[in-house]
Amino acid sequence: MKKVSIIGAGHVGATAGLYLLEKKIADVVLIDIVEGLPQGKAMDISHAAPLRNYLNTITGSNDYAAISGSDVVVITAGLPRKPGMSRADLLTTNARIVGGVAEQVKAYAPDAVVIVVTNPLDVICHVVRETTGFPRERVIGMAGVLDSTRFRLFIAEELGVHLRDVVALVMGGHGDDMVPLPRYTSVSGISITELLSQNTIERLVARTRTGGGEIVGLLKEGSAFYAPASSIAEMAEAILLNIKRILPVSAYLEGEYGLKGVYVGVPAILGENGMERVVELALTYDERNALHTSAGSVTKSIAQWEAAKGAAA
Ligand code: APR
Repeated sequence: MKKVSIIGAGHVGATAGLYLLEKKIADVVLIDIVEGLPQGKAMDISHAAPLRNYLNTITGSNDYAAISGSDVVVITAGLPRKPGMSRADLLTTNARIVGGVAEQVKAYAPDAVVIVVTNPLDVICHVVRETTGFPRERVIGMAGVLDSTRFRLFIAEELGVHLRDVVALVMGGHGDDMVPLPRYTSVSGISITELLSQNTIERLVARTRTGGGEIVGLLKEGSAFYAPASSIAEMAEAILLNIKRILPVSAYLEGEYGLKGVYVGVPAILGENGMERVVELALTYDERNALHTSAGSVTKSIAQWEAAKGAAA
């Protein structure tokens, strides 16, 4: 049986564990810094085994030795933003937390493919890659699948069609300047540019950009976790089953799209080796500009983190 370890047994982590167990393709280990939390959640989920027919297992631990032999490690550890906390505070805090987590992953699961989820996503991917020294194929971020699934839903609702037939692509960083691409978004092969007016598309694109924020506004405390957890399970499945799906992931670019040395969301082939290939599209001038603007925000945040790290050293 394949093995997936999830670091951070909070809302996103525990739910991703549940969804992965439901897929019946891997044993799952939950790790958290809080004593009892991963054990308690894993125990609760496993009590449903006779009802849900789980043959695979879910266990919890505070000890990283439990992640050894993992095929995939998912990192969701970190603090959510609290009132009065700036984005920079969140960046520094989560980068420090995940830096520590990445050290443990490097020590105990040196062959794993790491899926990073903690926000600010693209910068945290950079921290994990830098700390583990893993090749870019094995450190990727989850954002595009989530942003695309939101876009898909909004399109299906607008058109009154089955959402299974809607395929959407969202590129760029996981922030307000993400880049939904209507030209590469279709319903049963028909581009949405033929099915919806420009105004409607722009409205759905805007809603996709703010989809996460809309949920934070409603929840008041904490952020989305069901759709993020589903997106994690989708990516992990593609890797565990080696099914070579093309999914949008945050990937470290080495010249693709004219970008180098930065994590940004692009379509890529996912298989047993992780991010096996970045798929390069012939973007229009405007699409490419939007992608570069989004990547520029990530580069700025990375510089901010490097400065904070340098100041603390
Ligand atoms: N090691 C392990 N776990 C940790 C550590 C650490 N050093 N620090 C914090 N954690 C754990 C917390 O104890 C908590 O259980 O990370 C978990 C985070 O869970 P939640 O607070 O419920 O946050 P969640 O909603 O799951 O979001 C986690 O994913 O989508 C992103 O923006 C989101 O960055 C956030 C992350």
